[in-house]
Amino acid sequence: MVDTSNGNPQEDSIMQGEYDRRSEVEAFEDSKAGVKGLFDAGLTKIPPIFLDKQYILEKNSAANNAATPQFTVPVIDFEGLELGGSRRVEIVNMIKDACESWGFFQVINHGVPQDVMDKMLQSIRHFHEQEFEAKKPFHSRDIKKKVTYNSNFDLFVTPTTNWRDSLYCIMAPNPPKPEEFPQICRDMMIKYAEHVMGLGYTMFELLSEALGLHPDHLKGMDCAEGLYMIGHYYPPCPEPDLTLGFSSHTDSGFLGIVLQDQLGGLQVLHQDVWVDVPFLPASLIVNIGDMLQLLTNDKFKSVHHRVVAKQIGPRISLGSFFRKHFHEGSDSKTYGPIKELLSKEKPAIYRETNMTEVLMIRYNKGLHESTMLSHFKLQN
Ligand code: OGA
Ligand code: NI
Repeated sequence: MVDTSNGNPQEDSIMQGEYDRRSEVEAFEDSKAGVKGLFDAGLTKIPPIFLDKQYILEKNSAANNAATPQFTVPVIDFEGLELGGSRRVEIVNMIKDACESWGFFQVINHGVPQDVMDKMLQSIRHFHEQEFEAKKPFHSRDIKKKVTYNSNFDLFVTPTTNWRDSLYCIMAPNPPKPEEFPQICRDMMIKYAEHVMGLGYTMFELLSEALGLHPDHLKGMDCAEGLYMIGHYYPPCPEPDLTLGFSSHTDSGFLGIVLQDQLGGLQVLHQDVWVDVPFLPASLIVNIGDMLQLLTNDKFKSVHHRVVAKQIGPRISLGSFFRKHFHEGSDSKTYGPIKELLSKEKPAIYRETNMTEVLMIRYNKGLHESTMLSHFKLQN
C-alpha cells in the first residue's frame, strides 16, 4: 500500500474520505454550472469530490515510472474499401485483428468530411461555452429526455467525480424535434449524425464479415438502429495528477465512434498498460462495446479506457454510441451470443439480456461498476 499522506492533516482526512461528500456533490449539482463553472471561478485546487485516490496511488507508484512496453493502437486506412475484392478482404482482416487484440482502432479515410468533424467539435465547444442561462434549461438527469446536459451522469453513485461536463442527445431511432436541440449546435449534431450513421452501417458490415458472417448480420440484429451522441467538455485542470477526465470504463453499447480534438488524452488499457490514443489528424476512433463482446461470445473485446485531465484545454470530444437509449416504451428486444459463432468447443458464455437491463446497471452503478459483462455470465 502506498502512503498518500503529504503531512497536511486536512488533506489527509479528505483522502481518507472523511468529509461530507454527499452534501458537496449536492452543492455542485445545484450550481448547474458544472466543472466549467468551477474553472471559470478561477480555482487553483480541485475540490475534494474530484480527488481520485486510486489514480493518485498509480501516479505515485514506482511501477508507473518503470519502463513499459511501447504499444501503438492500430490505425486502419479505409482507402480503396469501395473497390471491394482483395482490398476489402485486407481491411476486414485488419479489423478482425484489432477487435480481437485491442477492441480499439483509429480509422482514416472513413468518409466523414473534415469540415463536418471540425465544425462538430466547435459547436460542442460553443454549447458548453455559451452563457450559463442558455445551458441551464438543458440541465437534467432525466434519462428519458432526448437532450440533456450535466456533469458526470453518475455523479450521485460513484465515489469520485470526473473533471468533465457533457451534452447528451438521442439521435436515433427517434431524434428530438429540431426545436428541442440547443440552437447553437443543432445543425451540426444533425449533419454529423447522418455521416456517422453511414460510417456505422459500413462498420457493422465489416465487423460481420470479420466474424465470418453475412455482411448484413449485425445490422439485421438492429445493432445500428440506435445512436446516442455525447459531446464532452474537459476544462483545463489545475491539478491533473489528482483526478481523471473520465474514469476507466467500458462502453455499454455495441460500438463507439469517438472524435477527439488535438489535445489527445484518451488512453486504452492494453496488456495491463495504459496506452495513449494519440491525436491523429482526420481520424476517428472506433471501439467495441460490451454488447458486441456479448454477441460475439468474447471474440471481440470491449476494452477499458479513460481520459486523463490536463492543465491545458479545454479538450473537446464527441462520442457516438450505437445503442438504443431509454426511450418511449422500454426496449425489451433480447440479445445473446450469435448462434453461428457457437459450437461444442465454444459454448455460450453469456445469457440473453436487453438494452434496458444493461442501461439500468450502468446508471445505477455508474462507471464505478467496471465489470458489466459479469452480470450476464453463465455459470458453467
Ligand atoms: C465515452 C468516452 C472518450 C473521450 O464517452 O464513453 O470514452 O475521448 N469518451 O471523451
Ligand atoms: Ni467510453
